[in-house]
Amino acid sequence: MKDHPVRNSIYNVYFSPTKATQKIAYEVADAIAADRDLTSIAINLTKPKSRPVRAGGQENDVFLFAFPVYSGRVPAVLIDCIDQFEGDGAKAVVVGVYGNRHYDDALLEAADLLGERGFKVIAAGAFIGEHSMAPRVGAGRPDADDLAVAAQFGHDVAALIEQGATETPAIKGNRPYRDGMPDTGARPATTDACTKCGICVKLCPMGIIDADDPAQVADGCLQCNACVKGCPQDAKRFEGEQAAAIVAMLEGNCLERKEPELFL
Ligand SMILES: Cc1cc2nc3c(=O)[nH]c(=O)nc-3n(C[C@H](O)[C@H](O)[C@H](O)COP(=O)(O)O)c2cc1C
Ligand code: SF4
Ligand code: SF4
Repeated sequence: MKDHPVRNSIYNVYFSPTKATQKIAYEVADAIAADRDLTSIAINLTKPKSRPVRAGGQENDVFLFAFPVYSGRVPAVLIDCIDQFEGDGAKAVVVGVYGNRHYDDALLEAADLLGERGFKVIAAGAFIGEHSMAPRVGAGRPDADDLAVAAQFGHDVAALIEQGATETPAIKGNRPYRDGMPDTGARPATTDACTKCGICVKLCPMGIIDADDPAQVADGCLQCNACVKGCPQDAKRFEGEQAAAIVAMLEGNCLERKEPELFL
C-alpha cells in the first residue's frame, strides 16, 4: 500500500452574526489554503449549538480566528470557546472586524488568549465591516478593496509560514484591556409587521428568540443586530434613548473611512 503524505489544514474559525467577519475570514483563509496547499476546514461559531467546540491544530496546521470587535474587545461569548482550543504549536492568525470606530484592544486580547492556548500567533489584521448598530457607519464594508487587502494578507501570511516564522509581531492595543460591554439588558423590540416567519429565530447567535412568538426575546442579547438586519419585514429594531445615543455618537464621529491595519 502506498503511503500518502498527511495534508495539513487551515481551520477557518469565525463568529459572524451579520456576516462581515465571515467575508473577510474566507478571503484570508482561501488565500492561505491555496498558497500552502492546505485543506480548508470552516468552523462557524455563530450558531448557538456550534459553541463551544474543541478545536485545535498540529504544528503544521494554520488556525485563523476571526471575530467582530465588540466594545473594543473580543466578544465575551467567545471566551468559553477559546478555552476549548488547543494550539499544540499550530500557527495562528487573528482577524478582528470592526465597525469603522476602532478595534482598540481586541486584536491584542485575541492574540494573548490564543498564545495562552498554545498557538504561535504570527499575524493579525483589523478590517472594517458595516457597523451592525449603525448601518451608515462603514456602509457597504467590507467592499471589493477590503476583500483584495484580505486576500493579499492571506498571501503574505502564507509567505511568512514558508519562511518558518513563529514570532508574534507587535500588535496595537493596551493592557489592561479597556472595559468590555456592560450587560444593559437591551434587546430588540418587535413591531406588528412581524409575520412569525422565524428567520430571526434561526439567525440569532444566542438562540433567545422564541420560535412560537418571535416578539419574545429572552435575556442574553448581544445586540448583534442579526435579527434586525435579517428581518424581511423590518419588524425588529432597537428602540429607546440608549440605542439612539449610540447611533448618534457613531454617525457624529465615525463616518470617515478607515483602512485595514495589518501586523505581521
Ligand atoms: C455589541 C457591539 C459592539 C460593537 N463595538 C464596536 C467597537 O467597539 N468598535 C467598532 O468599530 N465597531 C463595533 N461594533 C461593530 C462591529 O464590530 C461591526 O459591525 C462588525 O462588522 C460586525 O461583524 P459581523 O458582521 O461579522 O457580525 C460593535 C457591534 C456590536 C453589535
Ligand atoms: S424575521 Fe421579522 S417577520 Fe420574521 S419572525 Fe422575526 S421579527 Fe417576525
Ligand atoms: S436578539 Fe439580540 S442576540 Fe439575538 S439576533 Fe437579535 S440582536 Fe442578536
